[in-house]
Amino acid sequence: MWDLIALGVVIFVFLVILVRIVRFALADADLTLLSKRGPKRSEVEGKVAWITGGSKGIGKELARQFVELGAKVIISARNVVDLEKVKAELLGKYPNAEVEVLPFDLTSDEEFLREAVKKSESFFSGAGVYYMVHNAGDDPLPIPALEITSQTILTIIKTNVLGTINLTRLIAPFMIKRGGGHFIVMSSTAGKCPVPGQTVGSASKFALNGYFHTLRSELIQKGIDVTVVCPGPIATKPLFKGTNSAEKPVTTDRCVHLIITAATHKLKEVWIANQPVLSVMYLTQYMPTLGLWFLDKIGSNRVEFAQTGGNISLMTLLFGKTKEKTG
Ligand SMILES: NC(=O)c1ccc[n+]([C@@H]2O[C@H](COP(=O)([O-])OP(=O)(O)OC[C@H]3O[C@@H](n4cnc5c(N)ncnc54)[C@H](OP(=O)(O)O)[C@@H]3O)[C@@H](O)[C@H]2O)c1
Repeated sequence: MWDLIALGVVIFVFLVILVRIVRFALADADLTLLSKRGPKRSEVEGKVAWITGGSKGIGKELARQFVELGAKVIISARNVVDLEKVKAELLGKYPNAEVEVLPFDLTSDEEFLREAVKKSESFFSGAGVYYMVHNAGDDPLPIPALEITSQTILTIIKTNVLGTINLTRLIAPFMIKRGGGHFIVMSSTAGKCPVPGQTVGSASKFALNGYFHTLRSELIQKGIDVTVVCPGPIATKPLFKGTNSAEKPVTTDRCVHLIITAATHKLKEVWIANQPVLSVMYLTQYMPTLGLWFLDKIGSNRVEFAQTGGNISLMTLLFGKTKEKTG
């Protein structure tokens, strides 16, 4: 009798472990995020979401899904024609949608940013921004660390870090005055672990993680939430010119579904990536010695093959065939 119970327990534990392993192998996001049941409409409906970089890629899809969930949306980018096109598409699909276009350049001086914030606060009868989605970003093509110019460094840091932080400084007081607000920050896998070929992009995303986690600790008691989103490859564009043997990207609509899920469940940091990128993130976070060893091993090949159109999938870089080129 006891033997049978013990056997039953062993089989049960084995099955639980097996299910978890399979779940992790198929995961496209961290397991906390995957345990949530999708976006909460009640957290979004009627609120204003200001999305930077709303003219294409992830930002454009963020605008669509926020509208679908009943939010009033402001979209920003530099190119006003692209923004108007997105607005027209949204109104064609959702005739009752409330969408405003607010073009501006994140690298502008403080006065321009202050003006943009003032405008954002004036839309929708002065309802005020609740979700500030810092999505605009400068993602340079991979380049060896020692070849990057000081001008490129300046542009990346000004767009990804300085512009984003300054906008935050300027809009947060309005949110606090109203009693609440939520920053959704598009960081990256490159904000959690080294991504060879993206030294400055990685530095900019690490900076965002540091700034926004600290900001939350200062302002959460005043009603300000922060969700830092760290995606791996997302299918907004080919990862590198001519290099398609890379990791399988997460689709843009799935990525955005997960971002809004994370924000409406008030998660502090989430990771969105298919395997094996997700495993590398877990490894680097929880077993950094092993994770950093792995990245050191593949780093120089990744940079070289990203530039010449070679196969840059992690497994190929690790287990040989590194000289192979894609056809
Ligand atoms: N796609 C991925 O695989 C991936 C992976 C990890 C992280 N991310 C992050 O996710 C975010 C969105 O990525 P994405 O692939 O959707 O980007 P994307 O397709 O390149 O779009 C970037 C958006 O940002 C705007 N933008 C760029 N520079 C700007 C500036 N100086 N001022 C104002 N707006 C500016 C662009 O419009 P204009 O050019 O008209 O200004 C565009 O709307 C980025 O922060 C990126 O770093 C993406």
